[in-house]
Amino acid sequence: MKVLVINGSPKEISDTMVLTCSFLEGLNKNNNFEIKIIHLIKKNIKPCLGCFKCWKNENGKCIQSDDQEEIMNEYISSDIVIYSFPLYSYAMPSHLKAFVDRLIPLNKMTMKEKDGRIVHLPRVDLSKQKKIFICGCGFPNFEGNFDGLDFMLKNKFGKDILPIYVSECPMLNEKEAEPLTKPLIEKFRKAGEYFAANLDIPSNIKKELETPMLDKETYIKIVNSLR
Ligand SMILES: Cc1cc2nc3c(=O)[nH]c(=O)nc-3n(C[C@H](O)[C@H](O)[C@H](O)COP(=O)(O)O)c2cc1C
Repeated sequence: MKVLVINGSPKEISDTMVLTCSFLEGLNKNNNFEIKIIHLIKKNIKPCLGCFKCWKNENGKCIQSDDQEEIMNEYISSDIVIYSFPLYSYAMPSHLKAFVDRLIPLNKMTMKEKDGRIVHLPRVDLSKQKKIFICGCGFPNFEGNFDGLDFMLKNKFGKDILPIYVSECPMLNEKEAEPLTKPLIEKFRKAGEYFAANLDIPSNIKKELETPMLDKETYIKIVNSLR
């Protein structure tokens, strides 16, 4: 099976990718997957012009010429797509949003109502493609922190996606935090193994992956003591 990883962190050393790489290690324990990682920040992806030429021209082609088409071809031919990115302003980083906006040629202009929402009909059938979204953030956990992102992902990509939201991620690249981070990193490795066998993650495993490494009061205290 082909796996495409879209790394949406702009950093050389991404906190979120620590978890994603561990998941991939578990996923590919038996070398059954062909994994390709794209570091989106290194690609030339212009913002969508909003001209709808990709819909009007029937061929589904964007009039802009940059790296989007090549990545979209990889995307279409992948069985599993894993988005790995940090939460920015309760959403995704702008260069990743540009990529997501530019996915509109995968749909047609035609709309219909489905499961209580309005959707555009697919031009390319990706209904069997598994989509995982691993999003790390810097705040400790609080209710509603990921709500804006979650709304966007489920409306854009459908309710069958697997989102994994992780708080306190700047700890993941801190050596002193290893006693706290190592168990979570290991859980991601095991979750990858589970996903390889079942192509899904049950809610109890997802809950474990999303459980904060540290209580919020202690986390805030540590952050405020830095500098
Ligand atoms: C521009 C910017 C916006 C951010 N917005 C949020 C936010 O809304 N909520 C949050 O919890 N963390 C926010 N963060 C913190 C990052 O999500 C956090 O540092 C994360 O660990 C970075 O992951 P990465 O290393 O994979 O890029 C923001 C960071 C930056 C630079």
